[in-house]
Amino acid sequence: MIPKVDADGTVERDSVEGDHVKSGALYNSPFLRACRREKADYTPIWLMRQAGRYQREYREIREKVSFLELCKTPELAAQVTVMAVDQLNVDAAIIFADILLIVEPMGVGLAFNKGEGPSIARPVRSGRDVDQLKEVNVGESLSFVFEAVRIARRELAPGVPLIGFCGAPFTVASYMIEGGASREFAQTRSLMHDDPGAWNALLERIVRASADYLNGQIMAGAQAVQVFDSWVGCLDEQEYRRLVLPHTQALIRAVSPGTPVIHFGVNTGSMLKAIREAGGDVIGLDWRVNLAEAWETVGYDVGVQGNLDPNVLLTSTDEIRRQAKIILNQAAGRPGHIFNLGHGVLPNTPVENAKALVDAVHEYAVGR
Ligand code: CP3
Repeated sequence: MIPKVDADGTVERDSVEGDHVKSGALYNSPFLRACRREKADYTPIWLMRQAGRYQREYREIREKVSFLELCKTPELAAQVTVMAVDQLNVDAAIIFADILLIVEPMGVGLAFNKGEGPSIARPVRSGRDVDQLKEVNVGESLSFVFEAVRIARRELAPGVPLIGFCGAPFTVASYMIEGGASREFAQTRSLMHDDPGAWNALLERIVRASADYLNGQIMAGAQAVQVFDSWVGCLDEQEYRRLVLPHTQALIRAVSPGTPVIHFGVNTGSMLKAIREAGGDVIGLDWRVNLAEAWETVGYDVGVQGNLDPNVLLTSTDEIRRQAKIILNQAAGRPGHIFNLGHGVLPNTPVENAKALVDAVHEYAVGR
């Protein structure tokens, strides 16, 4: 299909594919304008992990179904996706899923245990383990996510963009190798250094599957995608550049042209230039960095997303408003800032405080 060109010359790229609502309201939404570093009426905001246990309605659903069942039931996954937008009045939705869903069809055995987080039954520890992984056919094994995207796109207001996502190759590989959460990433780093052939083969597999997975979400109706590199901050810049950057770069380059990519990492303050080199239209910043300095470091030819400390949402409305203002002042009204937390919403966050943050960011534009 040929992209539609408006009278003012703008191409409505969100109307190119999929059966979702096609409207200029979507293309011109503050979130997508910020992704393209265009001026918007106000700074758009959404929150990483905006759907989750801090919401009473989410906990009620989780009393009836497990986390994996929730992810694999498209109507329910779409429902919690849309619910978060309705409740918080954020400027974008993120599809309810998980960065680890992609490892299940590789055959490693994925489980989410109560209170312990994710676990992998058969961790990958050698080149032989890598060779035994199954090649992922996302249309067969992850179609429930695409269906959830289609339903959510239909149910969201026409002007609210939907974000698709996946884990970055390093973070996904680290779970596959460690078998679960880790502090030291000892096994991951030993495979990286002792058997770079196996390491590269593993990351190439993850990139192939993740590229298909992101493009499948885009085809189904996502307007932007985010790549989460939650654990990459455990590496030094040299290791990152040599053993990780080329893979993340290959993934980001494989995303359908015209769809903005947000590239987010945690604890990346000392390697932001390298993160930026790996790609992304918008660089996600954690709360440890000063947004103004970080934006200067990554360059004004990309947008930035962030970066309020999630712990601030555990304080008072006054403090939330004060801290939000500090970050907005650091962004200084430059087009291309998407307000977000510096990492996900904490499970003990009062919903009222998350709402207060969204209101504060929206109101600030009025008084600017
Ligand atoms: O942001 C959203 O609202 C969309 C949903 C989303 C989830 N996970 C749902 C989820 C997103 C974007 C993710 C990404 C994700 N998953 C990341 C990257 C973001 C980050 O926080 O760094 C990571 C590292 C994971 C892996 C993962 N999944 C962990 C470590 C856990 C356990 C953490 C915990 O809080 O228990 C999960 C489970 C998970 N994923 C939950 C949710 C809502 C909690 C499940 C539950 O008990 O209901």
